[in-house]
Amino acid sequence: MGPRSTQPGRSSLHVAIIMDGNGRWAEARGLPRWEGHRAGVTSVRRIVEAAPGHGIDLLTLYAFSSDNWSRPPEEVANLLGLIGEFLESERASCIEQGVRLRVIGSRARLGEPLRHAIAAAETATHAGRTIELRIALDYSSRDTILAATRRLARTRGLTRDDFAQRLNGEGTARCAHRDVDLLIRTGGEQRLSDFLLWECAYAELFFTPTMWPDFGPGDLAAAMAEFRRRQRRFGAVQALPIAVGALTEHWLH
Ligand code: FPP
Repeated sequence: MGPRSTQPGRSSLHVAIIMDGNGRWAEARGLPRWEGHRAGVTSVRRIVEAAPGHGIDLLTLYAFSSDNWSRPPEEVANLLGLIGEFLESERASCIEQGVRLRVIGSRARLGEPLRHAIAAAETATHAGRTIELRIALDYSSRDTILAATRRLARTRGLTRDDFAQRLNGEGTARCAHRDVDLLIRTGGEQRLSDFLLWECAYAELFFTPTMWPDFGPGDLAAAMAEFRRRQRRFGAVQALPIAVGALTEHWLH
């Protein structure tokens, strides 16, 4: 079991969200796609506010994947602009609400103003203790795992937990490892899209057809209620005394 994996009834939960469906939400209303992303930012605010009430103390949001660079340049600029504006405009309310902001992913391809906004938001909110909000930006889980493998390849006696703790990189991107307890994906697709692959090894998965701009506190409450009904076994079984038969015993040793 990974560090701090949590049973459904307990607090201190790591919830991760793939916020999908902004474009379709906008197109269904005859609006340009960027209106969908803008509406998506409003959903982000609502969900960050509601999350601590459900025992969520770490929320990771997939804001921009490394594959999103292949979208039209205007859409890329629009998305990165919205994220930069969010980091600036939400700084004060994050401090007030005890939200600690962190950004995971690569910063190498980001422009200087965005890198500056990230650093300023991380520094200003570092004392937040109610919830940590991780924004995944230019993020690829495969690249993260590959980079860690390259860095740690010569480390002797590397354990699973050591590897996990050092997964999120050196320097500014360094964040403590936490397994994901619940992964939510909006927008109807049912896949992980290179998001937190290591961290989701035992995550409960919740897929909803609701488009991200429509996903509100009531939808989060429904996802959390479903999560709390799930039985997490982490590969084991409920602790019932079962006699191991002689034949099975043979294959154990
Ligand atoms: C997927 O919808 C969503 C994204 C690629 C971006 C998510 C970004 C935001 C919600 C706004 C900024 C985030 C923060 C944290 C401030 P899509 O465009 O792929 O939708 P579609 O599948 O309907 O086309």
